[in-house]
Amino acid sequence: MTKIVPLIAGNWKMNGLKAALGELDRLSDLLAGDRSEATIALCPPATLLAAMSDKGAAFGLKTGGQDCHFNAKGAHTGDISASMLADAGASYVITGHSERRADHGETDELVRAKSVAAIGAKLIPIICVGETEAERRAGQAESVVATQLAGSVPEEADVAAIVIAYEPVWAIGTGLTPTTEDIVQMHKSIRLWLVERLGERGQGVQILYGGSLKPANAKEILALENVNGGLIGGASLLANDFYAIISAA
Ligand code: PGA
Repeated sequence: MTKIVPLIAGNWKMNGLKAALGELDRLSDLLAGDRSEATIALCPPATLLAAMSDKGAAFGLKTGGQDCHFNAKGAHTGDISASMLADAGASYVITGHSERRADHGETDELVRAKSVAAIGAKLIPIICVGETEAERRAGQAESVVATQLAGSVPEEADVAAIVIAYEPVWAIGTGLTPTTEDIVQMHKSIRLWLVERLGERGQGVQILYGGSLKPANAKEILALENVNGGLIGGASLLANDFYAIISAA
């Protein structure tokens, strides 16, 4: 079996003023004694990205953007390009988060274009997929995710250059999580899809779980087959909580 280094990525969403960067001092102290081999990343709001990247570089923290435009530059007021994120120090960018799919009507096609732009700027897109509660109840969770993958993952995806995050929409910010059986089943079907699409390279793609991942459930969830890390919202805002999840990986 291919050995995959886990990725523990935090998504601060629209939270955090400059003062929140103080959490990095605490995180740096906590990580100093850490033995985990996981890659650690935080995706702050764009306003904090450059400062976080500079500060985090001192202790091995990677950073990422939360979205990017599909064009490299141009007349797109308010948008940010993948190369701007890279220039600010980012290694990753989240694409197709369900909040962007819902709030901004992002389609699979758009998510794919953004992911292609990210790869072009040498960023690793963290491509998000996940079903709604109604879709799961209707027994369509796997087919919905397969459709999202087919539409959102770039054809030319390079194994070193993409991450998939499975985030059931109904589990985000709600305190609810799927059963461990359901997580294993979904991650297995994502792995099979990746291998079908990318061949052997699909075995090496990190598949993250996201949605109410907390210190209390991290150990159990992160140990599951084909769960190669997590994408963490609320619990990534405070260094103590985030570190508790990192140390469970
Ligand atoms: P949550 O968010 O951990 O707060 O549920 C996860 C996410 O949306 O990435």
